[in-house]
Amino acid sequence: MPPPNPEYLQQEESLTPESRELITTLPRQNGWFDSTHLYLYQGFWFQPDHLQAVISCQSHFQPLHSDVFLATYPKCGTTWLKAIIFTILNRKHFPPSSPNHPLLTANPHQLVLSLEIDLYAHNRLPTASTTSSPSRRFFSTHMPHASLPQPLSQRNKVVYACRSPKDTFVSLWHFMNKLRPQGAPERDMETAFRMFCDGAVGYGPFWDHVLGYWRRSLEEPERVLFVRYEDVKEEGAVQVRRMAEFLECGFSAEEEEEGVVDRILELSSFESMRGSEVNRVGRLGNGIENKHFFREGVVGDWKNCLSAQMAQELDGIVEEKFGGAGLVI
Ligand code: A3P
Repeated sequence: MPPPNPEYLQQEESLTPESRELITTLPRQNGWFDSTHLYLYQGFWFQPDHLQAVISCQSHFQPLHSDVFLATYPKCGTTWLKAIIFTILNRKHFPPSSPNHPLLTANPHQLVLSLEIDLYAHNRLPTASTTSSPSRRFFSTHMPHASLPQPLSQRNKVVYACRSPKDTFVSLWHFMNKLRPQGAPERDMETAFRMFCDGAVGYGPFWDHVLGYWRRSLEEPERVLFVRYEDVKEEGAVQVRRMAEFLECGFSAEEEEEGVVDRILELSSFESMRGSEVNRVGRLGNGIENKHFFREGVVGDWKNCLSAQMAQELDGIVEEKFGGAGLVI
């Protein structure tokens, strides 16, 4: 159980006076937990500290040309993709078969910091020392495409990972219940489901988040790579090669011969990561226990949780939102 007032639950009181003033002008609604709120900014709902960080990041972040970004909606496989891309990018410094590989002793969220959650929420500007990625700086974000700092969205390469909405929702529900403040009751699934369907969740609406990156990936495939969690599960080697090519560090014939792709998949596998000591007993700086990022790690777990009616409703929304855009997830 997290401490009574963990950092990730900080609300309006932790904001600067300017941000506090700004949020009074924005539409507001209740957040996941009682007494927490979400604010609508540029078409998406943010909890207050993330909103302040997004605005600060938009004003100040100057990416290097070589910077790489992973963008995700929460619970779509951020932790896994951080591990995979970190390993792809840094395989010369840290061979994936090395017994000293950083992923064996650190959680991916410690190796790859989130622009808004780890950096700008704390007024930390990214520097060489805020990234553990020695080859190229590598950051993550949950920001919707429309909210990305302009230089980033215009110049940099972004891998966007998405996942089936039903599994995403179920994963989110489990995760948020683990993070609930001490003594608070679980958020019942029906209420949470309604919030998700209404788009009223942090970084939501989910559909708009996905569509923003999907459309950009069609318009500028050299800049945004769209990756499905399910495809990485199904054909990991194909997707690892695809990501490496996109990031302009494809595997050499020699690496292929040595089985480097398979080593990357083994190192970042659910079993390997969930089993490591750091992920069994460690905690992130904001208080979240590492083990909460590794639950089932399968495709289709929604079948164990959602009623037929819920599944049908979510499928209907997905069909309506994604059908016209040619997106199937
Ligand atoms: P489940 O809750 O369905 O198990 P995020 O990293 O974006 O928070 O997403 C968490 C989800 O990714 C969780 O899904 C978690 O179990 C799953 N996950 C974490 N590491 C994984 C891995 N190495 N392989 C596959 N799934 C993984």
